[in-house]
Amino acid sequence: MATAALSPATVVCLRLKPLSSTVRFLSLYRHHQPKPTKVKYQISIAPLHHPPQPRVHFNYLNNSTTNHRCFSTVVSATVSPGEVSEKSNTESIGERVGEFRKRLTIVDIKGGESEGVDRLGQTLTVKGWVRTVRIQSSVTFIEVNDGSCVSNMQCVIGPDAKGYDQVESGSITTGASVCVQGVVVPSQGKKQKIELKIDKLVLVGKSPSSFPIQKKKVTREFLRGEAHLRVRTNTFGAVSRVRSALYQATHKFFQENGFVWVASPIITASDCEGAGEQFCVTTLIPGSKEPIKSPVSDIPKTENGLIDWSQDFFGKPAFLTVSGQLNAETYATALCDVYTFGPTFRAENSNTSRHLAEFWMLEPELAFADLNDDMACATAYLQYVVKYVLENCKEDMDFFNNWIEKGIIDRLTDVVEKKFLRLTYTEAVELLLKSKKKFEFPVKWGSDLQSEHERYITEVAFNGCPVIITDYPKDIKAFYMRQNDDGKTVAAMDLLVPRVGELIGGSQREERIDYLENRMDELNLNKESFWWYLDLRRYGTVPHAGFGLGFERLVQFATGMDNIRDTIPFPRAPGSAEF
Ligand code: 4AD
Ligand code: MG
Repeated sequence: MATAALSPATVVCLRLKPLSSTVRFLSLYRHHQPKPTKVKYQISIAPLHHPPQPRVHFNYLNNSTTNHRCFSTVVSATVSPGEVSEKSNTESIGERVGEFRKRLTIVDIKGGESEGVDRLGQTLTVKGWVRTVRIQSSVTFIEVNDGSCVSNMQCVIGPDAKGYDQVESGSITTGASVCVQGVVVPSQGKKQKIELKIDKLVLVGKSPSSFPIQKKKVTREFLRGEAHLRVRTNTFGAVSRVRSALYQATHKFFQENGFVWVASPIITASDCEGAGEQFCVTTLIPGSKEPIKSPVSDIPKTENGLIDWSQDFFGKPAFLTVSGQLNAETYATALCDVYTFGPTFRAENSNTSRHLAEFWMLEPELAFADLNDDMACATAYLQYVVKYVLENCKEDMDFFNNWIEKGIIDRLTDVVEKKFLRLTYTEAVELLLKSKKKFEFPVKWGSDLQSEHERYITEVAFNGCPVIITDYPKDIKAFYMRQNDDGKTVAAMDLLVPRVGELIGGSQREERIDYLENRMDELNLNKESFWWYLDLRRYGTVPHAGFGLGFERLVQFATGMDNIRDTIPFPRAPGSAEF
């Protein structure tokens, strides 16, 4: 691999052509050309430095005005030197955007196998927020965290360091942001192998004693009221990183398996689940400026005294979507395997630890597929993402194992390694009836399984193993599910996991138009408004299946967090839309 650095005197555009050898090149644009002129170019081949050198991080301390991350274009491509064409920049004002260099973070410094020992003697800069300050007779210890990992950088400062006066004056407090430069030295403490002996300390932003997250233990409930600051704690930092990794792993899994990501709309006129739990999107009530003062009489009415929706923004009632499935089905019946992944909304008044009013849902949809394919996909996906976080978020998972749920690593390892079990709804009901457990909600064929039933099945009856329940009564499931030959049940599946209960809900879809229309009639659904959905069955219908996974429930499952409100940055729940 080599780097082709372009002459700094001009902006040159490279035309790329496939060739046998691949080079990576950086485009470094420095100068402006007033007029398009022919310029000479030069390509120099130099090794690409990776990872970047930390040199750029000291700008701050040198009082440089260019204290920014630098951005550059790094392109992987095949280039033939003879294929270079020229284009001059005609702009005469403005400054060039700098080159991108990732700043060295604490995880870069001590996240590797040697825990930072390989950097002994190096002079480094760390930027972050002070977690604690311990003043001792000769030195002061400042724990700095930059959010890149659970670990802090322990920084030691003595009176001879620049900026020590900030320590003396008491300005270096919990919550303050700092920039420290120092030499990596072996640590005397047992908690870490290295620490930073500070040469220079700069207080970036002070934090008075009113900072709500001081060292004393604070409850999760308290932190929900401080959602803008709670991510500065170990727990919420770790949850955020694992959530991000699960998101990454989700796209990775589906992209690697040939699925196309589809953006399904947030605003919709149809109710996919038919539960009537939708938030209305309207401009009939004024926008956010003065909604409190708007009189009810301003809402336009028809002659019969009903709301006149024809005057609304969309000319009819519109809602926030409860699911992207119906739209995903349209793309699956052209692209075969697709997935949508985005926010969904439910106006259900459930104040539980498993429900949110706004949550992210992953919804794959597979064409030429039945319920078995659907279950296989759900299982492979879940095992993939769980394995991904176990392998890529080791420090965070250790943290959860020690502080949030003892044994979570073993539990998740089992999920990756063991086969999932499946049983029918009828078998599940029999199992529950046979159990000696007293449930709050009675168990009866035809009633939906409650969380306590789901958790009993997976936690007690199957000893913590994920279980898939299939073939639910059609009357407790949505209109689009494929009717089984018994006429009573549908090809549905719910995947249950310990602690959370239902993590995934899916089904094979009714691809037979007559069955689908009959079911819509039985449920009094307005077929006209579903004309486009029915078209999928009119034109080239195929067996297809899919599922929905509540992403926050997945985060709960993977981190051991008890309450779903602690798995999303700013939870939306009944009576709660702060931040
Ligand atoms: O079972 P649900 O309602 O299924 C659907 O919406 C289908 N359209 C999915 C599909 O087949 N494409 O929801 C799917 C999952 C549930 O299993 C649960 O994990 C999650 O979404 N979920 C919620 N998560 C948080 N808060 C809520 N209020 C949720 N409601 C459902
Ligand atoms: Mg469900």
